[in-house]
Amino acid sequence: MADLTTQFLELPVKNPLMNASGVWCSVASQLEALAESAAGAMVSKSCTLHPRDGNPEPRYRVFGHGGPKENKVCSINSMGLPNEGFAYYLRYAQRHDHENKPLFVSISGLTLDDNLTMVDSLKDAVTPAILEVNLSCPNVPGKSQIGYDFDAMDTLLAEVSSGYQRPFGVKLPPYFDMAHFDEAAEILNRYPLVAFVTCINSIGNALVIDLESETTLIKPKDGFGGLGGDYVLPTALANVNAFYRRCSEKTIIGCGGVKSGTEAFLHLLAGATLVQIGTSLYEEGPGIFPRVLDELAAIMDDKGYKTIADFRGKLKTIA
Ligand code: SIN
Repeated sequence: MADLTTQFLELPVKNPLMNASGVWCSVASQLEALAESAAGAMVSKSCTLHPRDGNPEPRYRVFGHGGPKENKVCSINSMGLPNEGFAYYLRYAQRHDHENKPLFVSISGLTLDDNLTMVDSLKDAVTPAILEVNLSCPNVPGKSQIGYDFDAMDTLLAEVSSGYQRPFGVKLPPYFDMAHFDEAAEILNRYPLVAFVTCINSIGNALVIDLESETTLIKPKDGFGGLGGDYVLPTALANVNAFYRRCSEKTIIGCGGVKSGTEAFLHLLAGATLVQIGTSLYEEGPGIFPRVLDELAAIMDDKGYKTIADFRGKLKTIA
């Protein structure tokens, strides 16, 4: 039977699966369910310094395209960072059993100062929680994604590095151009404390329209929202592999389009160390983890891989 154990920043992890931030991680009862689930690690909802209600409903919709045979699971969201505020997630982190599984605390400050205030508090708190700075929320009206503003990203990484002085990670938006992969990677590589990179957040500002009612699926931002699920898998794999190739000192977390062992395997093959599940976790709940782990183990067994290290990052290209 395949060995699914892995390591993340030298921490032993039971398996490579975890939730995507925003899914099943906004309140303590959900975080506790993740802690008890088969996931190897978990991340809390990207939080702001103060609690937020987020955008008006409906703000998250799952939809399928391609007919029943294709069985596509896609989502669009414009949540707008509804969350309980940083102090809430810090309190959860202080009582979380980090030996059971690593906990990432994701922050998404509305300003640089808010981010630095949260970073300071996390640094001062006695918790082994791992900091992730979300540079890629597409859903706050009037705020653009820091990951698409390379000067702002550089400034933020410099400030967080000097304030936090411990390894941390960033959640990136998807990039679509080789020049942008190069430029983003070059900036990330300036900061050795950026130990991991999560690729990708949703594909921002998509528009899904219901044919019958001729209406957008979600209400905020005139229906524009972040795309997740099946549609984003190839973009997610491209970003995982692009940063795996360019950031050899950093660990990559893959996110996007994972609904079975197949997509989890592909993320690992492209270079991810951990693999997040978003849309399908939202649909199935934490019971998805044992299913995907069984499917991943079966694929590894079929291919004769005994450990994840046997194939992680070993994507072949055509000569
Ligand atoms: C949201 O709350 O709008 C989603 C967060 C994100 O995409 O980073």
